[in-house]
Amino acid sequence: MEFKIGLLGFGKVGSGVYKIVTSRKQHIKQKTGFYPEIKKILVKHPDKPRNVNGIDEILTTDANEILCDSEISAIIEVMGGIDPAYDYVKKALISKKHVITANKELIAKYGDELRKMAEENGVFLKFEASVAGAIPVIHQIERLKITDEINFVGGIINGTTNYILTQIIEKGMKYDEALAAAQKRGYAEKQSGLRYKRIRCSV
Ligand SMILES: NC(=O)c1ccc[n+]([C@@H]2O[C@H](COP(=O)([O-])OP(=O)(O)OC[C@H]3O[C@@H](n4cnc5c(N)ncnc54)[C@H](OP(=O)(O)O)[C@@H]3O)[C@@H](O)[C@H]2O)c1
Repeated sequence: MEFKIGLLGFGKVGSGVYKIVTSRKQHIKQKTGFYPEIKKILVKHPDKPRNVNGIDEILTTDANEILCDSEISAIIEVMGGIDPAYDYVKKALISKKHVITANKELIAKYGDELRKMAEENGVFLKFEASVAGAIPVIHQIERLKITDEINFVGGIINGTTNYILTQIIEKGMKYDEALAAAQKRGYAEKQSGLRYKRIRCSV
């Protein structure tokens, strides 16, 4: 069965998602029964050079081409920021599309509201990539929550922070220098000003 996906964003993360999904279609089908196809990709600057073959016909700057397409069952939001990502994710959930997001800021600010909205509409909101980079912690926590009670989560749970601290500790960089290096590599958002603080969260 074909499973059509709308990709919101084609930057560092979005282009990686595209490459993985398109190169592993057969494998995904074998494992899940679903044959994934990225039908449309939303970008801001359509003329930007992308160095990826075969995407020109599926690029769009009009979010409605994805959000109002009833063939698209899921969106992957990898644009970053709140405006317009928050509205697009809400619109997708209300339209009963599954949502996968890597957007740390969106989940930190509106995660509870969006999870509730996903439940009400009978769709998934998956946000593993928004926490701890590629480490699958959310999946483990969701599973553990069935039998255990989790009161506190502590530690460095963010890949960007991990990169910055490694540069400071191992290369002796100053914070601003390490942040600039993370931004240059695309790990940190351009306007990001990370602040370290102890966080408490309920999951
Ligand atoms: N980079 C990482 O290592 C990493 C790791 C985990 C999670 N994340 C999260 O993943 C998300 C994306 O990060 P990224 O590094 O891939 O960002 P990025 O390289 O800046 O890419 C953002 C993409 O979104 C598009 N976009 C932004 N605003 C838009 C708008 N208003 N309308 C249409 N398209 C828009 C951009 O279009 P154009 O290409 O046309 O400019 C670009 O393709 C962020 O939430 C980030 O926190 C990133």
